[in-house]
Amino acid sequence: MLSQANSTHKNNTIQDTHSNMSDNKEYKFSDETLATAQRIIRRYPEGKEKSALIPLLHLAQAEFDGWLSPGAMDCVSALLKIQPIEAYEVASFYSMFNLKPVGKCVIEVCRTSSCWLLGAEDIVRHIEKKLNIHVGETTTDGMFTLKTVECLGSCGTAPMLQCGGDYYENLTFDKVDNLLEKMKSEGKRRVYTKDDMINI
Ligand code: FES
Repeated sequence: MLSQANSTHKNNTIQDTHSNMSDNKEYKFSDETLATAQRIIRRYPEGKEKSALIPLLHLAQAEFDGWLSPGAMDCVSALLKIQPIEAYEVASFYSMFNLKPVGKCVIEVCRTSSCWLLGAEDIVRHIEKKLNIHVGETTTDGMFTLKTVECLGSCGTAPMLQCGGDYYENLTFDKVDNLLEKMKSEGKRRVYTKDDMINI
């Protein structure tokens, strides 16, 4: 019953997302991104193209402003010839996919055991205070979104955070301050790049 309840909740969330976030924008990969997507799809045997779903969702997220609107996910599902719901299910399961608009820099602070023991909660509170937002929110200038996530596999260098494809480790308040200032002064969107997708 629990899994059914979770499934119902998840489907509602997906439907809510779809109805709230639908827009009239045309979602189409650039020629370069399409070539990368085709290259990734060719890694898999005929009939198993669906295996390329996660890297293609990353490509779509990078291409379409750092988040996956229903239109962006539909673009991926059409390319893989799968049902749109299959893309929505995967995208809504993983914290690395954003289902609503986010800032240029999505700060993902690990809050699992090693990081928690070494001060992740203090790091999160510090960032909240510094950016004047809470976890899950985006700064008014559209520069930062703050998230907490589960173990990112860098427990030996805890506490740590991820932004785009980069890890920032052994964090201190000073390191966080310098990092946020650097990101703000550069002002660029940080996402998984096409090279990251080729290499996974
Ligand atoms: S506990 Fe934070 S990276 Fe593993």
